[in-house]
Amino acid sequence: MTTILAISGSLRAQSTNTAVLRTAAELAESPLIVELYEGMSSLPHFNPDDDHDPLPPPVAALRNSIHIAHALLFSTPEYAGALPGSFKNLLDWTIGDDQPGSIYAKPVAWINASAHGASDAQTSLRLVLGFAHARIVDEACADIPITTNDIAPNGVISDRAVRERLAAVLARLR
Ligand SMILES: Cc1cc2nc3c(=O)[nH]c(=O)nc-3n(C[C@H](O)[C@H](O)[C@H](O)COP(=O)(O)O)c2cc1C
Repeated sequence: MTTILAISGSLRAQSTNTAVLRTAAELAESPLIVELYEGMSSLPHFNPDDDHDPLPPPVAALRNSIHIAHALLFSTPEYAGALPGSFKNLLDWTIGDDQPGSIYAKPVAWINASAHGASDAQTSLRLVLGFAHARIVDEACADIPITTNDIAPNGVISDRAVRERLAAVLARLR
């Protein structure tokens, strides 16, 4: 089995970024599993004073999900020319993890689901992942613009071209 942990940078219930990752999870076929991380709203504000055992339980759960994943797949909106604060907070909690399976050297890629470019968020994500020493898999990163209209009532994207591009992302990251 190969496990990819999918992490959305948006907390919005109708998020296009989360829909993209949810669709990727639906597309994954054995022996590939895409697990959608859903704990971002539970993470405490990053505080280096708390970055030691015992970790706050939501942080321990995040790190455990990262440890057991073979790769990470992100999709995030841009807020005010940068990464959403909640998502940067999540990334900050990954930096100090010195345990086996941490984000250090882990293969990572991201999907840019914005229809408007959102290039500052992409640049910022690359910078932060560089500080984390993640292994960026450039050939798996893709611009796949999505609007709310593309999301079916069940929360996934049915457009065939989008699904094919998502499947290609998964294949490259795998
Ligand atoms: C407060 C706020 C600030 C935003 N700032 C930007 C921005 O700087 N650049 C951009 O391209 N989009 C910006 N947007 C638009 C969002 O990135 C866009 O709505 C995106 O689809 C939200 O992602 P989601 O659907 O996954 O929640 C902003 C939206 C909000 C609510």
